[in-house]
Amino acid sequence: MSHLQLTGAKESLFNESIRQEIDLWIAKYPIGQSQSAAIPSLHLLQDANGGWLSEEVMAALAIYLDMPAISIFEVATFYSMFDLKPVGDNKINICTNISCQLNGCADIVDHIQKKLGVGFGETTADGKYTLKEVECLGACCGAPMMQVNRDYHELLTAAKIDQILDGIK
Ligand code: FES
Repeated sequence: MSHLQLTGAKESLFNESIRQEIDLWIAKYPIGQSQSAAIPSLHLLQDANGGWLSEEVMAALAIYLDMPAISIFEVATFYSMFDLKPVGDNKINICTNISCQLNGCADIVDHIQKKLGVGFGETTADGKYTLKEVECLGACCGAPMMQVNRDYHELLTAAKIDQILDGIK
């Protein structure tokens, strides 16, 4: 769509394959509404960039979608599903909002922080996990819950967490 000229890391991220996927999303919306493809485009670029988004990549996407860079930054910083600094191989999001709180997420947080040896916003020394605290993920009926990469895990117990994390290669 856009005649974007990119160099270096941006060019390798904005390769032909990703451009085609972004263009598919742009085509789903009326002409002139390419910014509607912002969220799926951020997902594509984040996945291609080892799980996080640099300012450089977000700025390049803003040009590609013909929207102000600040608007892309606003989207990327609003949603906890986007990360703006390097992350581990696996992202663990723990919900600490009200339903999860009422159902014992404090014990869950304590267990997982001790097990991994990291606090919220940190990555394990081996680079395997990044742990994040997030707001409600819409799975309140399964509280307490966590998200590991794209999968939800509900009705957590310490034993269940051990089983889930120990099962990740
Ligand atoms: S409060 Fe935790 S998923 Fe809704």
